[in-house]
Formats: sequence, C-alpha cells, structure tokens
Amino acid sequence: MYKWLIAGVLVTIIVTVRCQDPEIVDEIWPEVKPVGRTARLNCTVVNKQNNVVLWIHVNTSQTISKDDTIDLDNEIVGGLRKYEVKIRPSENRITFMLIVRRLREQNAGYYKCLVRIQGREPKEWPSKVGILTVQVQPAIRPGETTTVLIVDQNDNSQLLCKATGIPHPNITWVRSDGGWLPTGAAQSRGEVLQLKNVTVKMGGVYRCVADNNIRPPAQHLAQVLVFDAPTVRVVQDSVGQAQNRRFHAKLECIVQGYPSPSVRWERVVNNGRAQINDDDKFDFNKQTTDNQNLMSGEQWYTLKVKNVQANDYTTYFCIATNSKGTNMATITLFETTECQGPNCPSLPSSDTVYIKSSLLVLVASSLLHITSLYFFHR
Ligand SMILES: *[C@@H]1O[C@H](CO)[C@@H](O)[C@H](O)[C@H]1NC(C)=O
Ligand SMILES: *[C@@H]1O[C@H](CO)[C@@H](O)[C@H](O)[C@H]1NC(C)=O
Repeated sequence: MYKWLIAGVLVTIIVTVRCQDPEIVDEIWPEVKPVGRTARLNCTVVNKQNNVVLWIHVNTSQTISKDDTIDLDNEIVGGLRKYEVKIRPSENRITFMLIVRRLREQNAGYYKCLVRIQGREPKEWPSKVGILTVQVQPAIRPGETTTVLIVDQNDNSQLLCKATGIPHPNITWVRSDGGWLPTGAAQSRGEVLQLKNVTVKMGGVYRCVADNNIRPPAQHLAQVLVFDAPTVRVVQDSVGQAQNRRFHAKLECIVQGYPSPSVRWERVVNNGRAQINDDDKFDFNKQTTDNQNLMSGEQWYTLKVKNVQANDYTTYFCIATNSKGTNMATITLFETTECQGPNCPSLPSSDTVYIKSSLLVLVASSLLHITSLYFFHR
C-alpha cells in the first residue's frame, strides 16, 4: 500500500518536473559602463534542473561560461579575473550574473544567455540577449581636424574638427580668447565651422571641444591666419629728449600683418630719407611675447637712438613690408631741456619731497602723542 503511494508521488514529481521546462524569466537589462569599469549582466532561470546555463558573446561567437565555469582564457586584471559568473539562488529561481571587469571597447555588444537542455535541439533551448555598451571618452582625430588654416581675405573657408568616442561626441567651436565667432555667436555646434567672406578679424586661435559626457572632454586648437598687408601704429607719435648729455631716446611702433612683416627704420636727413642701421648709434629691438598690451599677431618694434645729438631731432619712419604690401608710421624726435623717460639719472627733487613729508608726519604724530600723554596724566 505504502509502496504504491510512494511510487505514485515519485511519478507525479517526475512528470511535473518534466513538464516544467527551464525558462529564462525577466529581460536582461542593458548595461552601460565606461572603459575600465565593471559590467554586470543578469540572467535569471527557473526550473534549471541539471541543465547548463551558457553565456555567449554574440559579436565574437565566443562561449564565455558554462554555469559558473569560465570557458575561455581568463586573464587576471587588477587582482581579479576578467570574467566571472556568480550564481545567486533565490526560491525557485537562479540568477547567473556575468561580470566583465576592466571593460575594453571590444567587450561591447550582445551577450546571449542560453539554457542547454539535454537531448533537445539547440533551437529549442531557451535564450535571451542583453546589450553591453562600453562608453569611450572623446579623442580628436588629428588627420581630419584643422590645425592651421591660411586664407585670403574675402575667401570662403572652413575649420574641421572630428572626434571619436562612444557615444559619438558633440563638437563645439569657440574662440580661444572668448571672443565672438564669425557667426556672431559665442559658440557653434558641429564638426564644421564656416568662415565666409574672411576678414582680418577672423584671424586668431579657435578651439573645438568634443564632449560625450565621459570625462575628460577632448579639445584641439586651430589657428587661422589671414593674408593681410602690414598695419603700423606708433606708441607715441612724438618723443622728446635733451641733447649732448648721453641720453637715449626710444621710438616704438606696433606692426601687424600676415605673412609676418619685416620692419626697417628710416629718418629724414637733409630733406631726403636715409636708412637706419643697427650700429653704434642705433639699437633695433623686437618683442613678440611677454607683453600684455599686444594683441595676437602683433609685434612691437623699438628703435633706440643713443646719445641724442642736435642732428637727431628729425622725423623717423617705422616701415613694415610683407608680400601683401608696405605701410609705415611716423615718429618725431624733438628737443627738451630736461632728460625724459624712466632711465634718466635720478634727480633729488622727488625723493627729497617724499622724505620731507615723511619727517613732517613723524614730527606731527609725536607731538600728538606727547599732548595726549599730558592730558591723560592730569
Ligand atoms: C543582478 O542581480 C543582482 C542580484 O540578483 C542584483 O543585485 C543586481 O542589481 C542585478 N543587476 C542588474 C544589472 O540587473
Ligand atoms: C549632444 O547634445 C545634445 C543637445 O544638448 C544632448 O542632448 C546630447 O546628449 C549630447 N550628446 C552627447 C553624446 O553628449
């Protein structure tokens, strides 16, 4: 009697178990992680019985694991295995969590979870697919990105900026000095920045920034050089100095233009003009950096007239030339009775005034102090 009962129960169990095929429940949630981090994909199975759960990387057709056994060459990264499957049973379901560490771009793609059922056709095996997105920080593609653009005025041209990254980065153009773009806006979206009807003002340094929210964004500088005849301006159009006392005079002009102009100095001599040479009498100098007063592309030239004499009081020319033309500015050197400029021998006058006034303050405050002491002690 008992035996029949037990046999009946067993048969019922076997039949029930047979009927309840393994099944993958729940979707495999998509995973999105940056390069270098760890991804986790969950496959939850009911009625697994003694069947085997496989994880397969669809893109490479590689079988990664069978249950919690890793089936491929499993390198160690940062002290842990690249791949691992953690089995988490709960009630009648088991989660097979695939862990992929130190993500690389090629780890991205589709991952299939599959229950291999003994004695059944593979097409009858339950399966589900999850997607892993590996985010990659932006990088500029140097070959397809403008570094230097040389254009003629009135031409139409463009700056290009291309970048890689996952997701595909957004490109933004700005001027690196914070100025306005030729479009009239502070920034412009897109790989291409159009420069229409190029003007000299469009010359300068531009910056493209590629950003896809994976830090850090990538950036690149592009320099725009616009062909332009020289322009010359003076720092002071007349400079004074006293004669015959070994005083020097400094004449200065600021030059701009592309290609970079060459500069020479001339002066009026006997109603004609004579070239000035860098010699015992004159010093030439050129400053391009370390000067906050200069705008980009400007160069600062100085002519030092040493030991000013009577015949040095005349008109000087700062002449700049490049392939687009020549331009000049005029500076007059005139006579004064006193030494002019910062390099004059220091005169006692101003210092004495300072010392005198300091002494006065000292005496006054002492007096005040004495008076207050007097009143206090009374
Ligand atoms: C995967 O399963 C584990 C435990 O069952 C859970 O903690 C984790 O949040 C799950 N992850 C995803 C991406 O579903
Ligand atoms: C690109 O910009 C748009 C609009 O601001 C934004 O919705 C999108 O998320 C950005 N794409 C990336 C990859 O950052």
